Amino acid sequence: MAGVLGVDVGGSSIKYAAVDPGSGRLLTPLGSISTPQPGDAEQLVSAISGLARRAAPDMPVGVALPCVIRQGVVFTAANLHASLIGADIQAQLRAAIGQGVACLNDADAAGLAEVRWGAARGTRGTVMVLTFGTGIGSALFVDGRLVPNTELGHLEVGGAEGEQRASARVRTELNLDWPQWCERVNVYLDAIDRLFWPEMIVIGGGISQDFAQFGSLLRSRAALVPARLGPAAGVVGAAMAVSGKEP
Ligand code: BGC
Repeated sequence: MAGVLGVDVGGSSIKYAAVDPGSGRLLTPLGSISTPQPGDAEQLVSAISGLARRAAPDMPVGVALPCVIRQGVVFTAANLHASLIGADIQAQLRAAIGQGVACLNDADAAGLAEVRWGAARGTRGTVMVLTFGTGIGSALFVDGRLVPNTELGHLEVGGAEGEQRASARVRTELNLDWPQWCERVNVYLDAIDRLFWPEMIVIGGGISQDFAQFGSLLRSRAALVPARLGPAAGVVGAAMAVSGKEP
């Protein structure tokens, strides 16, 4: 089967699918396994290489992780095990899988997919893709080019990190209704807006599937649009990274 394997590592689950990098389409249904706990490098490498062997033995593998990653090395691990920091996860995965591997930040991966195939396709200027999940991920694009590892979920807003006040996890944990949660998100969006002046903000992450329920409560000077690729965005973007098909 022609294609590449996209893998998206989250704090609780690892999603994966074979992807046609030429169209962004999934060639297999989106699969999922539990993230090993505590999720150190050895456990992650064994889980990802195991699923690559089972799901797509001959394919190059793109891996999105909720981490700052430069040249394959992990620099932060806010929602994964801290012992990952300093690991050359890309080299370890390459050695274990025996195929080409590229690793990148999960929001950057989702952003690549949304800019190339989804909500921000063809949009010039400054585009910010925000993913609301366990944390808040950010991906900044200028005329379609990614500025990697922006980590704006950790932007301090009103004395706390944005993701500590407005992630989807916080909404669930505090049992916030949509207006309560959107009030928090609006404060965060305002901070993003004042610093970056994006033309468009794409609201991504699992919560984007509920956009019809809360989208009208969000306010921004930027055009606000829901992500289009849903839960597969990170997987598609990871596949794009390993196939060199980034916009
Ligand atoms: C991490 C980012 C990640 C985001 C979404 C944040 O806590 O620092 O690297 O993109 O969560 O998963």
